[in-house]
Formats: sequence, C-alpha cells, structure tokens
Amino acid sequence: MADRYLSLTGTAPGRFLTRRLGLPQPAALHRWSAERPWLNGELLHLTAGTSTLDRAAVLARAVLRPGPLVRGCSSAPDSPPPAAVVLDATGVRDVDTLAEVHAALHPVVRSVAASGRIVLLGAPLDPDDHHQAAVQQALEGFTRSLGKEIGRGRTVNLVRLTDPVAAESTLRFLLSPKSAYVSGQVIAVGADAGVGADAVSVPGAVSDAVDWSRPFAGRTALVTGAARGIGAAVAETLARDGARVVVLDVPAAERDARELAARLGGDATALPLDITAADAGERIAAELPDGLDVLIHNAGITRDRRLANMPAERWSSVLDVNLASVLRTTDALLAKGTLRPGGRIVATASIAGLAGNAGQTNYGASKAGVAGLVRALAPRALAGHGVTVNAVAPGFIETKMTAAVPLFIREAGRRMNSLAQGGLPADVAETTAWLAHPASGAVNGQVVRVCGQSLLGA
Ligand code: NAI
Repeated sequence: MADRYLSLTGTAPGRFLTRRLGLPQPAALHRWSAERPWLNGELLHLTAGTSTLDRAAVLARAVLRPGPLVRGCSSAPDSPPPAAVVLDATGVRDVDTLAEVHAALHPVVRSVAASGRIVLLGAPLDPDDHHQAAVQQALEGFTRSLGKEIGRGRTVNLVRLTDPVAAESTLRFLLSPKSAYVSGQVIAVGADAGVGADAVSVPGAVSDAVDWSRPFAGRTALVTGAARGIGAAVAETLARDGARVVVLDVPAAERDARELAARLGGDATALPLDITAADAGERIAAELPDGLDVLIHNAGITRDRRLANMPAERWSSVLDVNLASVLRTTDALLAKGTLRPGGRIVATASIAGLAGNAGQTNYGASKAGVAGLVRALAPRALAGHGVTVNAVAPGFIETKMTAAVPLFIREAGRRMNSLAQGGLPADVAETTAWLAHPASGAVNGQVVRVCGQSLLGA
C-alpha cells in the first residue's frame, strides 16, 4: 500500500502544510539504481585524535578505487557540500580527544547533502583502559543521537575496525545509496566482531580480485521464502550482482517461485519445499551437489495473539518456521559441507525480536532466537568451515505483510524512525547482499538493523 503521506510531503503545498502543523518531514531517499549508483558529491575525510589507521589506505581502498561510489575527495574549506563524511575517531582515547569529534563535525554537519552519509570509524573497546573504553562507547551514543537529529534522509553509522582493508566492503556499502535505510548502527569488523586475526585470510575475504560490479559471479545463492516480498528482492539483488539463485518457497507458491526464477535468468531455479520439513537440509544438499556459497534464511511467518489467548499451535508454527528450521538447515548444510569455505549465511531477525512487541511473544522469541544463533555460531562456523554468519533485523518494511496491518499501527510504524518512513524490500536486500559479499569475510556475528533507526528498541 502506497505511503500517501510521503507523497504528500513530496509536494510544495504538502510540505508547507505539514511543516506548519509540526508533522514529520520524510525526505525522498536516494536509493541505488543503475542510473544513480553512487552518492553525488564529495567525500570529506576528518580525524579526531591520532588515528590508529592508515588514512590513505582507508580512502584509497574504501572509496576511490575504480568504480567509486563517492566521487572526489577533499577537505579544503571552500569545497562544495560533502555527500559523505568519514570521521576517523579510532584515536579517541580520552574526553579531550572526544571533544575533537565535536570540533570536526560541528562546522560541517549542516552542509552535508540530502541523503548524505556520516560514517564514524571507531576502535575496539580496550578492556585494559577504561578511559578509552568510555569514550569509544561514547561514540555510540553520539552516532545514535546525531542520526536522530540530522534529518533530510542523511544517515549516521559507526564502524569499529582495526584493519581498513578488511572493512572495505562495509565502507563501500555505508558510503553508497545502497544503505539508504540503515542508520544509527554500530558495526564491528575484524577482531572486534569476534573474528580472529586471520579473518582476512579466510577464502573469499578481501581480495584484489573482487569484481565490485558483479561480486557473486560464479557463486550459488539459496534464498528461502523468495517467492515474494523481501525474499524476492534479495533474490533479485543477488542475481543482479551475478549469483546463480535458487528460489525456495512452499509448494503452494511454486508458480510465483518459477516465474521469479525465469525472470532472474542466470540459471536461476525454483525449489518448492517447505523449509520446516525434517529433511529440508538434506533435500537442499541433494539439489546442490556442487555446493552452495550463500544461504539466506528469509522465510518467516507471524501468528499474532497475546500470550493469554495463544494456542500452542500458533506458538509452534512460528517457532518452527522462523527459528527451528533455520537451526536445522544450517546444521545440516554445514555438517554436509554443502556450504563451501568462504560461504555466507545471512538470517532474518526483526526489530520486534530485539525490542519486543505486544501480541508477538512467539514471533519476538523466534527472532531474538535468530540473533542468539548468529552470535553464538559465527565464531565457530568461521573457524570450522570458513563460513560467516550474520543477520539483518528489518524494521517497518513496505510489503504485503505490513500492508495488512491496521491503518493507525501502520502509520505509527512508518513514522516512528529517524527517516520518518517505511523501508523497501530493496533496503533489506542491499544490506543482505553486503553481508553475503565475498569481500565481507571479516564481518561476522553481526545483527544489523535495517529500520531507518526505529525508535523501537533503539
Ligand atoms: P512475506 O509473508 O511477504 O514473505 C514470506 C515468504 O516466506 C512467503 O513467500 C512464504 O510463502 C514463505 N514461507 C513461509 N513459510 C515458509 C516455509 N515453511 N517454507 C518455505 N517458505 C516459507 O514476508 P516478508 O515481509 O517478505 O518477510 C520476510 C522476512 O522478513 C520474514 O522472516 C519476516 O519475519 C522478516 N521481517 C519482515 C518485516 C516487514 O516489515 N515486512 C519486518 C521484520 C522482519
């Protein structure tokens, strides 16, 4: 269902009226398209404290390689408004150097272009230095607060890293239109993500050979629940980026799944299968004798009722689709070696799982369970199989599922975030594609919200 309020505020009279009434002002977000694949403007690189990173490496590696996502690089005072600001705060160790964060951003924040990006680079918290840990943690409150006030479709995120090379895919994502609905996030890359120092030598991790325009070429991806909604968008995005996609959905959705597979091309196939079948993992393995590179656990259902009114069947069906089948198929595909070294698992949590939601004890439990699974399995899957495990946690996304939500709750869901609008399936898909990227080997055990910085559980 179209967001009529967003359309209204896109017109001059609508903007005037809603401003006068003090109503939310959602900006038209710049999302990725073949015509506008990068942010339009300069990148401004700033530093607070004495950086622990090689600045040249950050810039050259993350942004300025062939096929730049942000054009240009300048810190001259008379340069045009920046489309992106990277603030290297890895050297912030005490309250005095924390003040340099304010000093660096205060003069420029107002001029950052609409749909622009601010990315802070932070260091892992030092357990032996409580001053450093305090001010590095302070960067999280700073990031989230700035995200809430900055407006005009601009986003603010914090990346904790030690090695900019390992963070290349993450910086490319955050500094592009692909991350339009990701704001207020703290993402750990490398050692701080529970990944050993060897992370970047894992097969499929950062490599000069990465083809940034078709990173999944030669790779096979399976997406569950892909016949429609977010799953279909994930399948489309991975196919766009070169993957051979297997579109898995329940037998009742076989026609849609086959139509999508035919549209995707690139040898895409449909796999009609109920993911809760006890032998689903074995069936997938049999379907993919040559192995699998990317496993996307997207299938999910809701069966809302308050706990006092919830029959056991509503509980078990949600837990089975959203969590138990994820555990079973993951275990089976890792044990059989179907997921090749360098493989990626991306599961789908939800902000309802992180924040809790009335009427959703079953759904909230299942989605929090997904986050627990990801955090616990990530280091072991990487060490044992060379496979990373991450999750996306969508907020309010415009799909058939949310179109069925009663009007008042739907409107609240759309507006109660820093961008004052719902996300699109493509927003979740782009985030999934970044986590599944061959160069994202040092991103592991992360649960990344795609929620426009929702107020829920923030
Ligand atoms: P949707 O209902 O439009 O699509 C879900 C797909 O999963 C359907 O094609 C369905 O047939 C398939 N599916 C359901 N049970 C299955 C099973 N047993 N085996 C195989 N396939 C099965 O849902 P939507 O909105 O696209 O959501 C996708 C995922 O994102 C779900 O995990 C959902 O919980 C999650 N999510 C969605 C949000 C939203 O705002 N739409 C917010 C937060 C999370």
